[in-house]
Amino acid sequence: MSRKVMVVDDEPKIRLLLSLALKKAGFAVVEAGDGQIALEKIPGEQPHLIISDINMPNMDGWEFCWNLRRTEEFKEIPLVFLTTRSEVPDRIRGLESGADDFISKPFDAVELVARVKVILKRVYGEDLPPLDISALPTDMIISKRYQIKKLVGRGGMGSVYRANDKELGVEVAMKFLKPELGRDPIVLQRFKREIVLARKIVHHNVVRIHDLGEHRGTRYISMEYITGKSLKFKIRKFGAMSVEETVSIVKPICSALEAIHALDIIHRDLKPQNILIDEQGIVKVVDFGIAHGGDSTEITTSGGLIGTPAYMSPEQVSGDPVDRRSDLYSFGIIMFEMLSGKLPFYSDLPAALVMKHLTDEAPILADVLPQIPQKFSDIVAKLMEKNPDQRYNSVQELMAEIDTLS
Ligand SMILES: Nc1ncnc2c1ncn2[C@@H]1O[C@H](COP(=O)(O)OP(=O)(O)OP(=O)(O)O)[C@@H](O)[C@H]1O
Ligand SMILES: [Mg+2]
Repeated sequence: MSRKVMVVDDEPKIRLLLSLALKKAGFAVVEAGDGQIALEKIPGEQPHLIISDINMPNMDGWEFCWNLRRTEEFKEIPLVFLTTRSEVPDRIRGLESGADDFISKPFDAVELVARVKVILKRVYGEDLPPLDISALPTDMIISKRYQIKKLVGRGGMGSVYRANDKELGVEVAMKFLKPELGRDPIVLQRFKREIVLARKIVHHNVVRIHDLGEHRGTRYISMEYITGKSLKFKIRKFGAMSVEETVSIVKPICSALEAIHALDIIHRDLKPQNILIDEQGIVKVVDFGIAHGGDSTEITTSGGLIGTPAYMSPEQVSGDPVDRRSDLYSFGIIMFEMLSGKLPFYSDLPAALVMKHLTDEAPILADVLPQIPQKFSDIVAKLMEKNPDQRYNSVQELMAEIDTLS
């Protein structure tokens, strides 16, 4: 990963010279004309190191450094002063304001790059290659805190590992995001927003989200580790379920969805792979909200939808706005699969599958399984309506209907 250096100087010529020297050495460079501008740019740019002039209009180097050291998030960024002033008192003032080093003007490009490299190495360690998230070695330490134990599985967004949180002595699940997802600042911003919301959900049937972290340029989400299997695994292994068992799993999913929807989060990726059942048989819903975009735009890799459209509503596959009722459609597909062991729509080709959700009439459960109570078949059919207006309006409405069955 290339390191980013911020160059703060009011003289465009000096900025240009510094930028050229740094870029030639392989650094990314961002420029600012004075301390005030630099402070404004830092949150968006997140530089690894700052080189700053001292004499500047608006906010001089000392004041800039002093302000920087008082921000919680950026106080650790190393800062090097570039100065013609070689008097000892000025340097002392620089150190007191929080500078790490000095480079004298006129500067020697080779010395400048050498100093920058030494500081970066001291602060961030070796510039190691990015993580290969599909094969992290066992016992590897992430962010000085998590010890990788085992690959749990791979999905559309990245890879999930079981790890040991050494700080708290508990197991966690860590989802490492594919590099292309972590690089886009808009996508990242959205992730962060969703995670802030997701962390607010404390519910027996919702997997707890802990944190969003970064290690060697790779983003990860840490969350509660669920010892158990996914609903997909269960369906694959044991096939169709009885009405009683289906209801016993559907009810906690409803309860989880109710909590998620109450915070105005749409799951967007409800599918049996994202429904985990722990060793005590407790149902846990995972991956809500964060899997896809915050509005009608889905995060895409190579221009396609992430994951399989097998459970996605017609509005979602067409890129139209989604709402709670889109999750209810996915829920209908899941219930159909639980009861019959089969998907209502299927094709190996994602494009053909998308077309089926859009145009094909959903099969009637009671036709496939004559022994199923008619009421149950009607509930599933209503969930799978193409037009969201024809579905239930809320999970509560669905729950009320299911309650009349038992
Ligand atoms: N918190 C967790 N605890 C235990 N296992 C988990 C946890 N989160 C995910 N898993 C498992 O890790 C595997 C990979 O999950 P991942 O979410 O990456 O893929 P997915 O659910 O198939 O697709 P998607 O990326 O669309 O969510 C799955 O088998 C899932 O059951
Ligand atoms: Mg998942």
